[in-house]
Amino acid sequence: MGEKILVLDAGTTSTRAMLFDRRGRMESVAQAELTQHYPKPGWVEHDAAEIWEKTLGCMREAAGANASEIAAIGITNQRETVVAWDRDAGEPLARAIVWQDRRTAGSCAQLKEAGYEPELQKRTGLVLDPYFSGTKMRWMLENDDAVRAAAGTGRLAFGTVESWLVYKLSGGSHVSDASNASRTLLLGLDSGEFDQDLCELFGVPKASLPEVVDTHGKLANCAAEWLGRKIPICGLVGDQQSATIGQGCLSFGETKATYGTGAFVLTNNGSDLPRSDNRLLGTVLHQSEGTRTYAIEGACFVAGSLVQYLRDQLGLIGSASETEGLARSIESSGEVVIVPALAGLGAPHWLPDARGVISGLSFASGRAQIARAALEAMAHQTHDLCSAFAADGAPWKALRIDGGMSANDWMAQDLADILDLDVERPDFVETTALGAAICASVGAGIYGSLIEAAEAMRGDTQVFVPVMEESTRSDRLARYVRALSVA
Ligand code: G3P
Repeated sequence: MGEKILVLDAGTTSTRAMLFDRRGRMESVAQAELTQHYPKPGWVEHDAAEIWEKTLGCMREAAGANASEIAAIGITNQRETVVAWDRDAGEPLARAIVWQDRRTAGSCAQLKEAGYEPELQKRTGLVLDPYFSGTKMRWMLENDDAVRAAAGTGRLAFGTVESWLVYKLSGGSHVSDASNASRTLLLGLDSGEFDQDLCELFGVPKASLPEVVDTHGKLANCAAEWLGRKIPICGLVGDQQSATIGQGCLSFGETKATYGTGAFVLTNNGSDLPRSDNRLLGTVLHQSEGTRTYAIEGACFVAGSLVQYLRDQLGLIGSASETEGLARSIESSGEVVIVPALAGLGAPHWLPDARGVISGLSFASGRAQIARAALEAMAHQTHDLCSAFAADGAPWKALRIDGGMSANDWMAQDLADILDLDVERPDFVETTALGAAICASVGAGIYGSLIEAAEAMRGDTQVFVPVMEESTRSDRLARYVRALSVA
């Protein structure tokens, strides 16, 4: 048997498969865009059948003629998104409700008013926001006849995207790894399985939920029909936890930020249960033989999707990479500030009804100023998180960045300047996929620990050092705070 690892990365906007060797070198990649459905303002849905079909297509393409060389499969995924399927037919019962979807803002507000949030935060590490899976499941049960009927006959299976893919790949195994399960509001941070009381609070039948398993180990098998031979699935991990592992943030206090569709910062909290007084999240980073390592997380809903919005909705740019040249073409954004609350505001504000703001416009504000303000918004949002982490007693010593937007050198430098911290970027920015490869290689026994695997599989990094003057930094942040107050 070979030692290659096949990673499936089922993200929000695309699904991909990558083949890695034991040194973490990517040998092949296949990618397919995912259709985004926006049936109403604030609603975001995916077709789970499309996720499966495109993942299978990518997986076959990336594996090519190498199936006999693959030791294990690792899966990483967009988190919180809820799939409901018929466990007998193995087919989706409704469109998946995506993590960005805001339709349950009302039910979150009701639960908050009823005083549930402090206890929920203590038990699950999460806050009451439509982002998480619990209220999405309840919405489906209350509003979708097929989901409700399946619950009545015991045929309903709920899961996040990794759970759905394992079900399809294995032909019936219903599991979710602890890092994904910790995003549902239904798992106690220190409890092994989904919590009966929390299931009752959210009206979710516990029998419809998967078994909670480790992030690495022998977790399930991919049936022979898909790649010509049975292959063990040895890594399952939510994409942000995966990027944290792929960045080698495996010791207490080490921090990464991923700038993908949204921006997600995670700091390794070791075996300590995370407790935040500043509206940050506590989450499972990874789990091995039932033993958990935790992270503190700050989640911003809009990052790369703001640049996409400038491109697709406003037509201000032709491609995302144009933003770097535009930002460099001017001395400053000329007081233009963007608050990217297009899907409400996540951590540390948690305002589901907030909306985007462009402030400081003058007749001198053209596309360059707006493009630059969009990039500057990344540093501003990250600075909000940086302050919240510091106030929680978890200050960052340096920040490791990755994700599609991190390829933008101007933005990486701006982050270092606004945070006044060294920003480190790996030469290989596919850290999300690499994290799942690290998990799967440990799960398959190729390496003895995540630290050993990360040392063997990670490459070099480039460092961006802060150079901005303090007065420029404080002016920028003051303008941002003013704009934020009207979002
Ligand atoms: O929590 C949502 C997150 O998992 C989505 O990640 O990479 O699709 O922006 P991404």
